[in-house]
Amino acid sequence: ALGQLWLAGVEVDWSGFYTHEHRHRIPLPTYPFERQRYWIEPPQARDDNSLTPVSLEKKPDIADWFYMPCWKQSVPPRPIKQKELASQKSCTLVFMDECGLGTQLIEGLQKDNQEVITVKVGAEFTKINESLYTLNPQQSNDYNTLLTELRQQEKLPTKIVHLWNVTPVTQAQSKLTEVEKIQEIGFYSLLFFTQSLGKQNLSEQLQITVVSNNMQPVTGEEVLSPEKATLLGPVKVIPQEYPNISCRSIDVVLPSIGSWQQQRLTDQLLTELRLPIFERVIAYRGSHRWLQTFEAVQLEESVEQTPRLREGGVYLITGGLGGIGLVLAKHLAKTVRAKLILIGRSAFPARHEWDSWLATHEETDSTSRKILKVQELEELGAEVLVISADVANLAQMTDAIAQAQQQFGALHGVIHAAGVPGGGVIQRKTQGEAQSILTPKVKGTLVLNTILKDVQLDFLLLTSSISSILGAFGQVDYTGANAFLDIFTHHKTSQQNSLTLCINWGTWQEVGMAVNTARPKELQEWYIESLQQGILPEEGVDALMRIFRSSLSQVVVSPTDFLSLLKQQNTDSDLLSRLEKVNISKPKHPRPELNNAYVAPRNEIEQKLADIWQQLLGLEQVGIHDNFFELGADSLVGVQLISRLKQELQVKISINDIFRSPFVAELALIVELIIIKELDELTEEEAQKLVLDISSK
Ligand SMILES: NC(=O)c1ccc[n+]([C@@H]2O[C@H](COP(=O)([O-])OP(=O)(O)OC[C@H]3O[C@@H](n4cnc5c(N)ncnc54)[C@H](OP(=O)(O)O)[C@@H]3O)[C@@H](O)[C@H]2O)c1
Repeated sequence: ALGQLWLAGVEVDWSGFYTHEHRHRIPLPTYPFERQRYWIEPPQARDDNSLTPVSLEKKPDIADWFYMPCWKQSVPPRPIKQKELASQKSCTLVFMDECGLGTQLIEGLQKDNQEVITVKVGAEFTKINESLYTLNPQQSNDYNTLLTELRQQEKLPTKIVHLWNVTPVTQAQSKLTEVEKIQEIGFYSLLFFTQSLGKQNLSEQLQITVVSNNMQPVTGEEVLSPEKATLLGPVKVIPQEYPNISCRSIDVVLPSIGSWQQQRLTDQLLTELRLPIFERVIAYRGSHRWLQTFEAVQLEESVEQTPRLREGGVYLITGGLGGIGLVLAKHLAKTVRAKLILIGRSAFPARHEWDSWLATHEETDSTSRKILKVQELEELGAEVLVISADVANLAQMTDAIAQAQQQFGALHGVIHAAGVPGGGVIQRKTQGEAQSILTPKVKGTLVLNTILKDVQLDFLLLTSSISSILGAFGQVDYTGANAFLDIFTHHKTSQQNSLTLCINWGTWQEVGMAVNTARPKELQEWYIESLQQGILPEEGVDALMRIFRSSLSQVVVSPTDFLSLLKQQNTDSDLLSRLEKVNISKPKHPRPELNNAYVAPRNEIEQKLADIWQQLLGLEQVGIHDNFFELGADSLVGVQLISRLKQELQVKISINDIFRSPFVAELALIVELIIIKELDELTEEEAQKLVLDISSK
């Protein structure tokens, strides 16, 4: 008790405490000094952050909701000495670039006594020799073959250095034709590789370092390749979905080959690679190391009611019939009697059909609601043209913009609000699913940019999200898509003297995708509660007017403290603890009718698994041959199971295990194998302790 008090900072009167005892000093250490260092590993960034409580209070003054990205110079990490490195021997997998950076890095890694496996882009999977492979980035199976091969050779990597986004720099980036190729070697390569890692059921800590060049606007003078920025989706979301993988992005500018500056860059990267991952977004420019941070900025209420807007101006809004699109359209209608072009993919009846549509459909019908909204805009003074087109389709958008210009004349502003919410963990994500989320933002922006390249706009407003910075569980594609918008803004600003503006919106309440997206039932209550801290439509408009008045080009709008959210970005503990609370109070339901009969657990592990599933699903019984997904589980429940197994049996399974073996009986075998493998590696004493620990839980 006294020790606890001392730890808590209480001043203890030690002389009083020892009054009746004879004390004397002894020399330390009492053992031979062996000069062997025992490194105390600094805690991983995620551990630090999970301790920080996040304030979810909505700030009362909108002026306090704004943050801007900045780059802060940071002290380069201290190089580790050669001797210390010998004890850190591990296998590193290098996704090799074609600019020579990888070649130098590999030499350095080998000098560090690291085993290096290299993988190059090729037409198909090929084993060139024991440590050199090629694979086709588009073939997800090639990544599986690579890892299976490495497992057979007992050379599964613990460090991965992904250099495929280090590419030759050309001024003419951001071309529609380039974008898909860059996604293949960037976003999809990381997605497929992570899925393959997931299938390997690794429990070791893994580090993925994704190196790119010319992706981050650190100095404002770089030639930028915003297409690469989607890789930030995997960098942010992989650690949120795979607790044993940490990721970082390091952006560089390539010095000329063979120069001393290239050697310096190699040394800088080697030093980073030798250390655990603490920071998520890093950049090197010359001798300087930079970290991305965010700073609060106060934006006072706009004195002008309509900054940057023209009376009777012509404004095109993609996603114009969506939640945020319609709110902004209403403001433009009300304040400047704008001429509005609203674009969405869904079919929309021609004007002469509106009355009959309204007469024959319920008011709750989504098209009826849109017709009524458009009529409201017109009553407020706007002229409205609704066009059905896909923003990512160059031909459809060329026609749409030609039609708009013919009807209203030159465009004055564009709001790109088309977007689709993401959903689904990396392990289950198909290329098609990810593409549908990336396309409207990535290709859509490039299509608009191509068509409008000679149009001098008053503004181009891109609607990004705070998830591009924070990442979001189950949203690797949405995170990447919005990261593209952020960096495209800086690219465009460096190229053209007109306003391109990107807003990283926090969640909106009352309208839009956050309200309309279906949530897993376990999270419904929490979402309803957290939505109340979101941006109300009139607050969103107010925020936009304040931003229009400022000269900022990328702004975060977050009613809750964004800097606290940022500190917590590496942890999913908030989500998990909420899920756990929800389940404790969950009522018990009888086991639903399934095609298979109930079979009771036959041993302790099956019983443990069945108990956990029963609690998570709120069921009275789960049989050993019941399919979890038929019982109502989803990936979030799966993540809870992983966390419970880690807590209760000290066993780490992957989300892929659950998808592959969604039955108590099958999963119990996997758990058993893991326990046997772990026991094999322990001393007899440690093994007995582990068995006692497990059986006492
Ligand atoms: N709501 C939020 O809390 C929030 C927060 C941060 C950022 N954002 C961003 O703000 C923007 C607007 O969001 P919202 O909440 O208003 O979403 P929303 O209500 O779902 O509206 C999005 C609109 O985009 C249209 N759309 C999607 N893909 C398209 C494509 N390829 N071409 C043309 N139109 C397309 C959809 O219409 P069709 O299906 O008919 O095409 C839909 O009407 C999105 O980009 C979103 O990522 C929203």
